[in-house]
Amino acid sequence: MRFCNRLRFQKRFFDRFSSSYYFLNFLSFGLANLTRKRSLKTLKIAEGETVCDLMCGDGSNIGIIKKTFGKNPILGVDISKRMIQRARKRFGENNVTYFAENALSSSISTGSCDAVSCTFGLKTLSAEERRILFSEVYRILKPSGTFVFAELSRPKYGFFFLLWNFYFRQFLPLFGRIFYLPFVGKKYLSDSIDSFESVVKDEKNFRSVFSQVDLFSWYGGIVTGFYGRK
Ligand SMILES: C[S@@+](CC[C@H](N)C(=O)[O-])C[C@H]1O[C@@H](n2cnc3c(N)ncnc32)[C@H](O)[C@@H]1O
Repeated sequence: MRFCNRLRFQKRFFDRFSSSYYFLNFLSFGLANLTRKRSLKTLKIAEGETVCDLMCGDGSNIGIIKKTFGKNPILGVDISKRMIQRARKRFGENNVTYFAENALSSSISTGSCDAVSCTFGLKTLSAEERRILFSEVYRILKPSGTFVFAELSRPKYGFFFLLWNFYFRQFLPLFGRIFYLPFVGKKYLSDSIDSFESVVKDEKNFRSVFSQVDLFSWYGGIVTGFYGRK
C-alpha cells in the first residue's frame, strides 16, 4: 500500500515535471551532463552490447549512449509516461526500446543486459525500494555485466558543503518559484538529497548483491555513486 502510494506520487510528479525537466541541465551549469558522461564511461560498453538505462527520465543518458556507442541496443525504463514520451521525441525509436514501467519490477528479461546505468534516480526511492532495485539490476544483468549508479549527495563539511547549501537551499528554490519549476521550487530536490545523504548509506546492501563494487565521490561529494560487475 505504502509502495503503491509512493509510486503513484512519483508518476504524477514526474509526469507534471517532464516538460521543464530539461531545464535542470542548464541550472546545473553542466554538472548533470558531465556526471552522466563520466558515469557511462565506467561501464566499458563494447559494440553491439545491450545497455539499459533505468529511471531514464527524458532520455539524456540514452542520447549520450547513442552518440558514443552508435548502434548498440538501448532499453530505457521510466515510470512516467510523459518522461518516456519526451525521451522518444528526443531520441527516436532507432535501436531504443522504451518501457513505461516500474524499474523495481520491469518486464525486461532476466540476464538480457550487458550494462545497466541509473543516474539521479536513487534519491527518489526509499531505502527499501533501493534494495529491491539492486536485486532487480542483478536479475536483468548478464553474468559479468557491468552497472553504474550516480546520485546527487550532500557533502559533509567545508567549501562544498557551503556551496551545496547555497545552491540547493537558496538559489534553486528561488529560481524554481520564479519560473514555476515544481521539482526545485518547494525544496523537493534538496529535501530528497538530504534524506538520501549519499550512496555510502546503502553500501552494505549493494555489496551483498554484486560481486565487484567500487565507490566514487565526485565534485567534493556533490555526486556519489558506485560501479562494478554482477
Ligand atoms: C530525477 S529523474 C532522473 C532522470 C534521468 N536518469 C536523468 O539522468 O536525468 C528520476 C526519474 O526516475 C523516475 N522514477 C521514479 N520512480 C521510478 C520507478 N519506481 N521506476 C521507474 N522510474 C521511476 C521518474 O519518473 C524520473 O523520471
